[in-house]
Amino acid sequence: MTHEWWKRGVIYQIYPRSFQDDDGDGVGDLGGILERLDYCASLGVEALWLSPVYPSPMADFGYDVSDYTNIHPMFGTLAQFDLLVEEVKRRGMKLILDYVPNHTSDEHPWFQDSRSARTSAQRDWYLWHDPAADGGPPNNWVSNFGGSAWQWDELTGQYYYHAFLEKQPDLNWRHPQVRAAMHDVLRFWLDRGVDGFRVDVLWHLIKDDQWRDNPPNLGYKPGDPPHYSQVPLYTTDRPEVQGIVSELRSVLDEFTGRVLIGEIYLPVERLVAYYGANLDGAHLPFNFQLLQSQWNARSIAALIDQYEHALPPGGWPNWVLGNHDNPRVAARVGLPQARVAAMLLLTLRGTPTLYYGDEIGMVNVPIPPDRIRDPLEMNVPGVGLGRDPYRTPMQWDGSPHAGFSVVEPWLPISDDCAIVNVQAEDADRESILSLYRRLLHLRRTHPALSVGNYEPVATTGDLLAYVRRARGDQFLVALNLGEGPYALSLASLGMAGRTVLSTYLDREDSVPAAEISLRANEGVIVALVSTGRRRA
Ligand code: NOJ
Repeated sequence: MTHEWWKRGVIYQIYPRSFQDDDGDGVGDLGGILERLDYCASLGVEALWLSPVYPSPMADFGYDVSDYTNIHPMFGTLAQFDLLVEEVKRRGMKLILDYVPNHTSDEHPWFQDSRSARTSAQRDWYLWHDPAADGGPPNNWVSNFGGSAWQWDELTGQYYYHAFLEKQPDLNWRHPQVRAAMHDVLRFWLDRGVDGFRVDVLWHLIKDDQWRDNPPNLGYKPGDPPHYSQVPLYTTDRPEVQGIVSELRSVLDEFTGRVLIGEIYLPVERLVAYYGANLDGAHLPFNFQLLQSQWNARSIAALIDQYEHALPPGGWPNWVLGNHDNPRVAARVGLPQARVAAMLLLTLRGTPTLYYGDEIGMVNVPIPPDRIRDPLEMNVPGVGLGRDPYRTPMQWDGSPHAGFSVVEPWLPISDDCAIVNVQAEDADRESILSLYRRLLHLRRTHPALSVGNYEPVATTGDLLAYVRRARGDQFLVALNLGEGPYALSLASLGMAGRTVLSTYLDREDSVPAAEISLRANEGVIVALVSTGRRRA
């Protein structure tokens, strides 16, 4: 059975501002990505996903788009983008763009027209509302970035809705012209050879048309993100959003071999609805559970189980270990477990998404107050919500700006960059980068590890174990999530096998064994041989 590329391969997320600066302004760009394509290809990832590179005032670092069909001059030109598509494909990879449909920048010409007069042609492209009786905002909806989600606009005497910054007004997806214009945006890039999109906040696109107040969230604690103060009953995951998603999918289906990925932070039972009632929704509704779970064997085994069972028939799983909105995995689980997490990510059933820099073990970088850039940290300071620490420049070598730039970069470089960098880790056979390379290689050469069946193995304590199988090729993945050793009897599981990879990178058996002693924080991949015995 053949599998589409987006089922087989690994997606590598590049945050373009921080990958490689080619033009010497301290901010990464397309020229920089072009320079580093050989590195990406050498990892053995299937597709590169770029966070937004469109013209933008950068109030939310590109998630505030002022022109959907161009490239920000800071990143390069359309001609350079076309070259990037060509060069990515020449290396056998795919290119995925970020698509930001929920909101534009307030500097987008559509919004400029919309706010100019109540009678303007594009007035209803955005969500305008009269004040409440007391002159205040129309309802209690709060912004994800703090404060009311309604912004008063003096010129026309109405409020507009913004789920994020006031500089990010939400589009009105009920308006047929908005849908048509945004579909054309997809076609613009698909025609240029883009292989798919990661859709920003897909579950946000439709809001209640009766503008009902959201109920309070009684579990809200100070320090939680501001919008956690409410249950977003009327602002997200509205039933009509499913129709919008399937229309987006239809646009992609006008082309062959493209992928639609949805950014959706919802509990699993809601998340899976975004595959569409007839698998006519997103190919991959992002599964963020590994970002949110407690890091222990029991919790992770349970969430895998729950997810596998919740998937609709034919719905393809996926796993995300890091992104530009969440603390680095090495910071969340510690460096020794980050290696175990790498093995988990690259051996679970489903498409993995890997965040740039996680493959070298980058950590959250402390940001001095005068270097803070994230608007979320500026709006809601001091409670640890800022995302700058996990958006810092890629560490290529031990030089002063880590090989990222010739000048001081827009965000500080980590202090650990003399040791944690691509050059040093490539020279170290036991580095986390070497582990990632080995894992990616093994995964590419054995379909059992990518598209094979998944079978949990019941275990106790800190061990998480499962078997992956395809066409007679079978592997046991055994991960020790604890600080102590773990003796694993393969014989008692009715198995025997040969360890082909350890997260310590120092063992490879030549003959099958019946027992494996796992060290603290060790994960192993065992090529199973048939014992003739059925497992209990
Ligand atoms: C989700 C993006 O990943 C995040 O970085 C951004 O701030 C919000 N959407 C708003 O677009």
